[in-house]
Amino acid sequence: MSLFRKKSVEHMLAASAQSAGLKKALGALDLTFLGVGAIIGTGIFVLTGTGAVQAGPALMISFLIAALACGFAALAYAEFASTIPVAGSIYTYSYATLGELAAWIIGWDLMLEYGLATSAVSVGWSGYLQSLLAGFGLTLPVALSAAPGALPGHETLFNLPAFLVMMAITALLSVGVRESARINNIMVAIKVVVVLLVIAVGVFHVSPANWHPFMPNGWNGVFGAAAVMFFAFIGFDSVSSAAEEVKNPRRDLPIGIIASLGVCAVLYVAVAGVVTGIVPSTQFANISHPVSYALQVAGQKWVAGFIDLGAVLGMLTVILVMAYGQTRVIFAMSRDGLLPARLSRVHPKFATPFLTTWLVGIVFGLIGALVPLNVLAELINIGTLAAFSMVSIAVLVLRKTHPELPRAFRCPGVPVVPMLAVAFCLFLMANLQAVTWVAFVVWLLIGMVIYFGYSRRNSKLAPTR
Ligand code: ALA
Repeated sequence: MSLFRKKSVEHMLAASAQSAGLKKALGALDLTFLGVGAIIGTGIFVLTGTGAVQAGPALMISFLIAALACGFAALAYAEFASTIPVAGSIYTYSYATLGELAAWIIGWDLMLEYGLATSAVSVGWSGYLQSLLAGFGLTLPVALSAAPGALPGHETLFNLPAFLVMMAITALLSVGVRESARINNIMVAIKVVVVLLVIAVGVFHVSPANWHPFMPNGWNGVFGAAAVMFFAFIGFDSVSSAAEEVKNPRRDLPIGIIASLGVCAVLYVAVAGVVTGIVPSTQFANISHPVSYALQVAGQKWVAGFIDLGAVLGMLTVILVMAYGQTRVIFAMSRDGLLPARLSRVHPKFATPFLTTWLVGIVFGLIGALVPLNVLAELINIGTLAAFSMVSIAVLVLRKTHPELPRAFRCPGVPVVPMLAVAFCLFLMANLQAVTWVAFVVWLLIGMVIYFGYSRRNSKLAPTR
């Protein structure tokens, strides 16, 4: 039964009430900005191209399906976040509700989400940086421009810009530069303006003829693209990890999560409609900056340049937020004894988990430099979808085990909505490629080996300690 040993919810809430150290300054609007800052990134700016090839103009529907899956999961997530508003992510929540093994699996899955997402976004960043530089007539040697195999027909070896941007962000995080709310707000403004610019300028260059055929690869293409485009919404969950810094978490957290998701869904569908209306969808194959490419095709060179610049600036915050999230998940797991204590050691001068930050930066920086984006995105999605399914189940469990806890936000339609969340997540997972499943199963097996070989015995909850 030790697999199901749990942290006590009451202890966690008490500890959180005592640790009044963090300033409670954030409101619903700040949280929405935080969410949008973490959401808009490589998904819309880069994967839109892959999605368009797969689904055609019906990519708009793919976005809606992915948004729906996230929406159901977000409702469950929001109940969780508003019931146990303690710092940390679903790893921490699940430790209190589903028990240690499930918490381990979720934490292990979150490494696919946060960690690999930093790699993926750095790849997207690299594509836009190169497009921006090309505007000034500067090109990188092909070998250093992308991961091996990322550009069929080209001898690519190492994505140097992707690696360098990860090193820069890691250096900032390791000395304790956190994204401040002000910088985040500026970045969010830049990203939203860029996206609105795409829509406002692009809409005048749409030829409705490009929307036919609407679904060149049938529903299979639409569902496959939805499973990939799910990536574009990842990040809304980061809102919940700010729980301890929110003025009125029980009200503001759910609003922040759902509003940021809604805003992005509307923007994404519009962008998908515009870019597939400007350029025939098949032409997006192997384009690493599809959104600005569409505007280039439309003859709007200046607008395309602004988009490149906005994307390069805006994606930095996504990398920062994800890398920060990753280091904190490892930190929490290490503090609980599930990972070596060294990983939660705090630097005496910078007060950051220095070793963990660099470890994360170097490992995921190399992954970004060496693995093509599509492979990364699928892996991230499968890990995240699995984690979200477990969260939705956890909401149902928590209702049974702790019916008395005050829930300012109650997920509507329980048990149907959490079950729909699980169903949607599993459906999207089923639409990912077989090779992604193999990689995922291997990842889980490695996780099991570490859990049973190390974590179970070293856990702070282990009786021998
Ligand atoms: N949703 C984030 C992005 O698109 C991860 O970059």
